[in-house]
Amino acid sequence: MRTHLCGELRAEHAGETVKLCGWVAHRREHGEHLAFVDLRDRSGVVQCVLDGSVEARSEWVLQVEGQVRRRPAGSENSDIPTGEVELAQCEVTVLSKAETPPFGLDERVAADEHARLRYRYVDLRRKRMQDNLRMRSRVLQALRESMLRQGFCEVETPLLWTPTPEGAREFAVPSRLRRGEFYVLPQSPQIAKQLLMVGGIDRYFQVARCLRDEDLRSDRQFEFTQLDIEASFVSASDVRDAVADAVLAAMRAALDDPGAGVPHDPGAGAPLAGIPGGIEVLSWHDAMDRYGSDKPDLRIGRPLADWTEVFARSEVRALSAPACKALCIPGGANLSRARLDALVDRAKALGAAGLAWFRVGERDPAGKAVLDSPLDKFLTDDQREAIVGEAAAAPGDLLLAVASEWRLACEVMGALRVETASLPDGTPAGSPAALRGGMPTAARAVTPGSLAYCWVVDFPLFDGVDEEGMPVPAHHPFTMPHPEDIERLSSDPASVRALAYDLVLNGWELGSGSIRVHDPDLQASIFDVLGISEQDAESRFGFLLRALRSGAPPHGGFAVGVDRFVALLAGEESIREVIAFPKTQSGGDPLTDAPKPLDARVLAELGLALRGEPGSGN
Ligand code: AMO
Repeated sequence: MRTHLCGELRAEHAGETVKLCGWVAHRREHGEHLAFVDLRDRSGVVQCVLDGSVEARSEWVLQVEGQVRRRPAGSENSDIPTGEVELAQCEVTVLSKAETPPFGLDERVAADEHARLRYRYVDLRRKRMQDNLRMRSRVLQALRESMLRQGFCEVETPLLWTPTPEGAREFAVPSRLRRGEFYVLPQSPQIAKQLLMVGGIDRYFQVARCLRDEDLRSDRQFEFTQLDIEASFVSASDVRDAVADAVLAAMRAALDDPGAGVPHDPGAGAPLAGIPGGIEVLSWHDAMDRYGSDKPDLRIGRPLADWTEVFARSEVRALSAPACKALCIPGGANLSRARLDALVDRAKALGAAGLAWFRVGERDPAGKAVLDSPLDKFLTDDQREAIVGEAAAAPGDLLLAVASEWRLACEVMGALRVETASLPDGTPAGSPAALRGGMPTAARAVTPGSLAYCWVVDFPLFDGVDEEGMPVPAHHPFTMPHPEDIERLSSDPASVRALAYDLVLNGWELGSGSIRVHDPDLQASIFDVLGISEQDAESRFGFLLRALRSGAPPHGGFAVGVDRFVALLAGEESIREVIAFPKTQSGGDPLTDAPKPLDARVLAELGLALRGEPGSGN
């Protein structure tokens, strides 16, 4: 139906007769007899000069045959790649008419998200969505190619599955043939891939759809995609190397394409080849201690300062023990009192008893450090020197500090570190749009230099306790305890580290994985620590325990969150922008109106009776 794509035409095509197909992006009347129509397809737009009598309205689908000619001098448009040419002597065939579009498709205008999702098929015509989905396709292809190159085998695992103790609430599917019984949609292929290892597959991967009934946010959907990996006879660093190969190949594929919709920076070729020196590895303890987060955003240079020793034996109650963590905000001394009060309120909302602040002044004539703070009168000269030195602060900076239990102090200062930081391009790191889950109007430009990866390893095996006082697995209950800590599994579970690792990119958890328990007795004792009785474990995961008893190789794996990865590569703040048909924040689908009531007949067939009004929550 066509000889060229709209966005392909250049001055060198002048004189050629071409046939194009596309949508009417824009129409401008020019006098009585001429109309300029911008015709759009997946490659871009080109201007067509039509007879004014030709009917062709916004979003109509046309086939246009015409001659490429250079635009008259002075009327070129340098904003678009086809801006030097236009199509003249056009013959138009209307392939499809369209109702008035529900919103303007101009990239610079923010359309209401509900409308965008309700008419997603129109929204998808926008360049931003086209670029994002195309980038997603390149990322998936590069991930697959890397896995295949590394000897992994793609295996599909069931969607109709059984409940697993991985931490998320699951979606249930009623069985028609066995009334009152349910399948569960997999929160991940975790157990299935472990069974594949027992089955000798050795190296497995899958581009896997996962389903979790959890609260939605800008980085979470009910259904999402993982690059899911498992391998036998490997160490944690073997798994990390395999993942890094795939992730860096996908980053190259995403950003190294001039058509990717992100500014291509030819000078930035070198880092694309990989990350010199590899991806930094931080222990969970160091990540918390230095950055106050298990997903540190390393684009922000400043680590936290540690003032614990400075105030360990001091009279300054607000800052003494068990831990005191601090943050230096360069140039922050000029923050207003109102802004400081807001920071104090924020620290309190995050669980701190309070937040101390110190404006760093010029040194006095005797060369002593000078601070402006309600707490200054309680400090000795040595303490002033020590806190300025620890935080590497200069006159004009602001110092913030919280003293409390170590983990809380780290977490509060870690959150303030992100929320008060500006990135080199001036955008706030903890962008309000990201925190609100809102929709920015434009994606942020991404270059390899703006992507900061790190590995966080040696997570605690358990993360606090549940309502019944039982330890909660930090990752999932199939994670191998650190061999040095295994003997404390029952006596001091909180101190046990796991052979678990996360990949972090720009402060987002991009993926996570671990070495698994392959010894059925150890797996049973972990279920025991979690308060899952032997009988319960047998009835819920008997199939896994039986498999582990049938000759299980040592194995471990990982899963990369593909939606998050593509969103970060595309400079988007929400994964909804890189998913063709996402759900809204409240879990609805404005396009299909799902979820909606089922026919009484279907319910009867499934043996289901409803309680409460359809559409109401619990
Ligand atoms: P985990 O639960 O950490 O690990 O998930 C791995 C990665 O999947 C992404 N992710 C999500 N993305 C979008 N929406 C969601 N609701 C969502 N939930 C998770 C994140 C996350 O890092 N089976 C283990 C992996 C393993 O141990 O091999 C697992 O699923 O990027």
